[in-house]
Amino acid sequence: MRTHTSHVLMCAGPRCTDGNTEAEAMFQKLGEKIDSRPHLKVKRTRSNCFVVCKQGPILVVYPDGVWYRCVDETVLERIVAEHLEEGREVSEHVFHRLGKGDFCAPGKADV
Ligand code: FES
Repeated sequence: MRTHTSHVLMCAGPRCTDGNTEAEAMFQKLGEKIDSRPHLKVKRTRSNCFVVCKQGPILVVYPDGVWYRCVDETVLERIVAEHLEEGREVSEHVFHRLGKGDFCAPGKADV
């Protein structure tokens, strides 16, 4: 296994999107985006469920402990470019932080 500095977990389960097609597509795109940036030391892993089960696709970045929801292709690109490359969260899509809990970003429904 290659050395990595971040681990991205993504739910590809059937309940947080309409079937798992959308989440699985985002997982594949995540791999393409990571592979296109060889300087990134990011490992990705598919999960079947994080027991959140709505407003997916859900993506979690560790060791930061930042949980994202409603990850479409635009948001995914921002997470890779801003969070993984530059260390800045895409705060409007964050709904949970490790050690801090859930919160609702302005304009977003509560989880
Ligand atoms: S199916 Fe995605 S969090 Fe449960």
